[in-house]
Amino acid sequence: MDAPSPSRPTIRRLGRTTVDRIAAGEVVERPANALKELVENALDAGAAHIDVTLEAGGKRLLAVEDDGCGMDAEALALAVERHATSKIDDDHDLTDIRTLGFRGEALPSIGAVARLALTSRVPGSDCAFALTVEGGAVGAVKPAARAAGTRVEVRDLFFATPARLKFLRTDRAETQACVDGVKRLAMAHPGVAFTVRDGARLVFQAARRLETGEAALRARLAAVLGRQFTDNALDIVAERDGVRLGGLAGLPTYHRGNAQQQYLFVNGRPVKDRLLTGAVRAAYQDFLARDRHPVLALFLDLPAGEVDVNVHPAKAEVRFRDAGRVRGLIVSALRHALTAAGHRAADDTADRAVAAFARTPGAGSGAWTAAARPSAAQMGAAHAFQAPLPAAGQAPLPAAAGPGLGEAGAPTPYQPAHDLGGPSWPVGDPGADRGGEAAGAEGLGGAGAYGSLDPGLDAPSARAEAPGADDAALVRHPLGAARAQIHETYIVAQSGEGLVLVDQHAAHERLVYERMKRALAEGGVARQMLLLPEVVELDDGAGVAALVDRAAELAGFGLVVEPFGDGAVVVREVPALLGDTDVAGLVRTLADELVDLDEALALKDRLFHVCATMACHGSVRAGRRLTVAEMNALLREMEATPHSGQCNHGRPTYVSLDLDQIERLFSRR
Ligand SMILES: Nc1ncnc2c1ncn2[C@@H]1O[C@H](COP(=O)(O)OP(=O)(O)OP(=O)(O)O)[C@@H](O)[C@H]1O
Ligand SMILES: [Mg+2]
Repeated sequence: MDAPSPSRPTIRRLGRTTVDRIAAGEVVERPANALKELVENALDAGAAHIDVTLEAGGKRLLAVEDDGCGMDAEALALAVERHATSKIDDDHDLTDIRTLGFRGEALPSIGAVARLALTSRVPGSDCAFALTVEGGAVGAVKPAARAAGTRVEVRDLFFATPARLKFLRTDRAETQACVDGVKRLAMAHPGVAFTVRDGARLVFQAARRLETGEAALRARLAAVLGRQFTDNALDIVAERDGVRLGGLAGLPTYHRGNAQQQYLFVNGRPVKDRLLTGAVRAAYQDFLARDRHPVLALFLDLPAGEVDVNVHPAKAEVRFRDAGRVRGLIVSALRHALTAAGHRAADDTADRAVAAFARTPGAGSGAWTAAARPSAAQMGAAHAFQAPLPAAGQAPLPAAAGPGLGEAGAPTPYQPAHDLGGPSWPVGDPGADRGGEAAGAEGLGGAGAYGSLDPGLDAPSARAEAPGADDAALVRHPLGAARAQIHETYIVAQSGEGLVLVDQHAAHERLVYERMKRALAEGGVARQMLLLPEVVELDDGAGVAALVDRAAELAGFGLVVEPFGDGAVVVREVPALLGDTDVAGLVRTLADELVDLDEALALKDRLFHVCATMACHGSVRAGRRLTVAEMNALLREMEATPHSGQCNHGRPTYVSLDLDQIERLFSRR
């Protein structure tokens, strides 16, 4: 017989221990995976209380104790055998799985790489039993003592596979992953109480919720994700063809820098699924910048036969029979809720604004996490509310103290209103009306609307406006009557309820975007020929290719580009509603984005993205002076436009302070 040559390796059967360790490597990659399996077993056992203890990030100890159905001596012995399960049988349809476990792999896998100890007692029986498995070596079942339910202890995880140990992260990071995993399961099971201890320290606790349905879910989500999230989230309820979507979706203004806080569940199982995260991204796309992410917890429930859970070793991914339908349901339910919430009240932004004013006068406001938008009720009330109008000769609001601010924006001492002999505002600068009239038939956002305004050469940083004859009516609008423009960036308006501060660029950007989408839906965006075609050099050949490939689509948006030699394009027409825009800047940004987005987004989503980019470039920049007519036109259009409470990047477009808050600010209450 030939000796085996190096080119003809021998095939041999591996021993049981090696097989088990290899298999275990797939199921249990880090402590958090093992813990997830143990908690899932406790949930499948019908536990009402689950208590978890960790030591050294779960590497030294993972213990899970439950008050579920328990195991008798025979079940205990089988539980640690590979492919032994109580959850399905050989006749079971693998496409119809209703428990979290089904493979009979978790306990034997953990036993193959750690020291596993199980102690269990069936409720009503007089004896508990215990069993240990060490690195795959199964001990004997012995009588033991404990209350009804099961305790599973995993010590020295991966002691039998030291290579794996080296890949673990710090105790802190592993603890974090473990706690996060338990939290995910806790969100989906509000009827079960949870505690997690890191050593002796309690690091997570969620009481058992005895309410039913949505109320329990909301309370549990508040316990896990915090009240701030639930206060800033929208209820999602949608159902189509037996597929149900529930949960809470954060307002676009409550965003994060990564998608870590997106919790998605399919039939009570936490999943990380590209289809689902893609649907979430598409739904929020109009509301958030590309690098911001919403916070949400969504629960998808569908007939077990519609989803395959047996596709991932850690059961973290699923496949849907009809992926399109699931995606459609998620996108439409989220969009619907976000649209309906276009004017939902902010919880605490106005309060934070007051706090910021009170704490550090003049300090930057920092990042807003939530928009202040009047609720529908407040909007209604604003119409009904008869605002006390300023008496003749009295300044409507100290904020409109035009002459008080010098060129450098240095504040002058506050002058009480009764000292003012006459109107405190300089009555318009004569040139300021030009743009307002020029807006003409095109209205706000039309080509001429803002194009004719010069940034004032020696503009003061605050400019107040006199109320016109129709002021009483204007004040009754939800966003009120424009009173001043400050720093050429913010509009100060007086509403029936108080004071509204608008970021003119953010607001106008949203308006242009919504107009553009409307125009597209109605068959095309009006174009405007450039007097001189503009050649735009791009330093990147891919950018030119992306633009030229998409030339027909871009023409639909009113942007006509053609290739121009090597590395450049020529722009002949631009969307009329962008007005006087920075063509080169727009085209360069678009080129970059088309290159980036080409793969990532579906055609329609990409088109909306192009809209958003153009809107940003076509918007009234900060630094432009607006006439009172223009400011009021902007406010009125905001009121009539969906989603106008935030710009396309999810920043609030305005903050409103009611008189109550203003009075608190001045300690009048
Ligand atoms: N906490 C528990 N209480 C009661 N029975 C349990 C508990 N944990 C495990 N078991 C029993 O042990 C069996 C084996 O558990 P194991 O986790 O290995 O497999 P599984 O849950 O059936 O499937 P999967 O590998 O997908 O998790 C279970 O089917 C169940 O009958
Ligand atoms: Mg299991």
